[in-house]
Amino acid sequence: MEDALNRAHAHATDWLASFATGPVGHTASETDLRAAFTKPLPETGANAGQVVDFIATRARPGLMGSPNPRFFAWVNGGATPAALATDWMVSAWDQNAALYAVSPVASIIEEIAGGWIKDLLHLPAEASFAFTTGCQMAHMTALAAARHAVLREAGWDVEQDGTFGAPPVTILTSSNRHGSLERAIRYLGFGRRALKSVETDTQGRMQPDALKAALAQTDGPVILALNAADLNIGAFDPFAELVPLAKAAGAWVHIDGAFGLFARASKTYRPLTDGMEQADSWVTDGHKWLNVPFDCGIAIIRDTKAHRAAMTLAADYVAPSHTARDQIDWNPEWSRRARAIPVYAALSEMGREGVEAMIDRCCKHCRTLTEGIGALDGAEIVSPPTLNQALVRFPLPQGTDEENDAHTSATMDAINATGEAYFSGTIWKGRTAMRISVVNWQTSDADISRTLAAIAGVLEREDK
Ligand SMILES: Cc1ncc(COP(=O)(O)O)c(C=O)c1O
Repeated sequence: MEDALNRAHAHATDWLASFATGPVGHTASETDLRAAFTKPLPETGANAGQVVDFIATRARPGLMGSPNPRFFAWVNGGATPAALATDWMVSAWDQNAALYAVSPVASIIEEIAGGWIKDLLHLPAEASFAFTTGCQMAHMTALAAARHAVLREAGWDVEQDGTFGAPPVTILTSSNRHGSLERAIRYLGFGRRALKSVETDTQGRMQPDALKAALAQTDGPVILALNAADLNIGAFDPFAELVPLAKAAGAWVHIDGAFGLFARASKTYRPLTDGMEQADSWVTDGHKWLNVPFDCGIAIIRDTKAHRAAMTLAADYVAPSHTARDQIDWNPEWSRRARAIPVYAALSEMGREGVEAMIDRCCKHCRTLTEGIGALDGAEIVSPPTLNQALVRFPLPQGTDEENDAHTSATMDAINATGEAYFSGTIWKGRTAMRISVVNWQTSDADISRTLAAIAGVLEREDK
């Protein structure tokens, strides 16, 4: 055991130390990776240390540098030292964080970590919470509670009678929603047709008049799902206007804040979220902007009764605690990782001030990077950051839309091929753009300068 763990430690620290010099993107192709790992199922076993070495050395070229400070693709985040180290211990301890009885310490730490998250994000202290695998399952958990509550109001017991024959529920949301919301809706048996898009402005924000009109046209139970930062441009719906309209109509209000909920930890960016505290449920990710390792989503729910009714579980061999928090009452899983321990560690390591400084720093870097790219010949800002997300593109002089799209993708690929930084693309308003997402505690001024130099180099080469 010790030899295998020591080798794993050496491989892990070598990988983390490579960020300054190694390529940010992966270097192996799909063919290379198949060739590296394909072998018949072994008939006999092997030495654990050798297994670790085999996997670690062959995996390395196929690793994406998502925790690298110059990784700006998707919204992946890094891992702080205390969060990563305690995540290793969580694996070594191998606790089943299902119940207090199965792992007393996992239950207690999770209870405290949940309280800290609500405190950090200025959400109601009395709300209940769940630590899930990601925001996808946090949506599902929160919307299961919403389903329970809105159908209870309509005189229907969904836990007992299911969704067949239930009063139809309408889910109002903007077309700017994340795909995970729609999938949660499908998981819960509402069906895609239950989703109704409400008009947004040019900045992707839901319009109060459009919501009023949509509410007026809707009969029966309603759930309104709002964005606290969409992943393309970080659009925040105007909560202070929208939430009261929805509440007056008896709707449940749900907030997707996969990363944007963390704006509430910053005095500078909290105003973007004003009014959101009046909602009924909020979801976010620890593995994005809190920089704990995958996988860690968080659901916070005002109606604790609805939450518990949607998730609780009893079985003859489950030994419930009568004083401590049994996670099984609040989560969609049974056996589960003690994923709140790295959350407790990250919050202990950074403190409220450290989280705020990280949020502000990421937003500052996003602004500098976007403006720096926008100032280069051959580049253009599509959407400046309101938070930590922005869009740029690389049009050709007199290029058609299609040529500009292709050139933007090709330039992004060329930037990624330098190994100096890594970006991902998107389609915004029908056109291709390169996304900039800054969510890593480690990203520094030097990383931003180095990235800008790499992009300038690519554009200069293209110019010749
Ligand atoms: C706005 C938004 N909501 C939800 C999700 C889904 O989160 P997860 O991948 O943790 O399930 C994401 C992921 O990128 C996101 O950006």
